[in-house]
Amino acid sequence: MDPKGREVPGYRMHAFVCGHTRPEGSARGCCSEKGSLELMRKFKLDSKGKGLTDVRVQKSGCLDFCENGPTCVIYPNGDWFRITEESIPKLIEFLDGGKLPSEYLLNLKA
Ligand code: FES
Repeated sequence: MDPKGREVPGYRMHAFVCGHTRPEGSARGCCSEKGSLELMRKFKLDSKGKGLTDVRVQKSGCLDFCENGPTCVIYPNGDWFRITEESIPKLIEFLDGGKLPSEYLLNLKA
């Protein structure tokens, strides 16, 4: 057992929010210039506030869907979202066993 009382490694669900930064004016842009780090912090704090101890929300490097971000992917199913302020309560409900918030699924721009 580890110091947090866990007997096995891993999480029931694991959310990654891209926090990548590129130089200003780069062709692809980046998620951090669209507020991803602030969104990730709110998502993480609100999920903890909800008492979700078997999930993890964390920053990731570039998830390679930069133009469509800020991006978020949630495992184990690998569902991809465009994270926004409005989406966070729905994403937390999803982490808590609620339905997939399909209205926030990532739609790729041509
Ligand atoms: S910069 Fe976020 S997906 Fe690439």
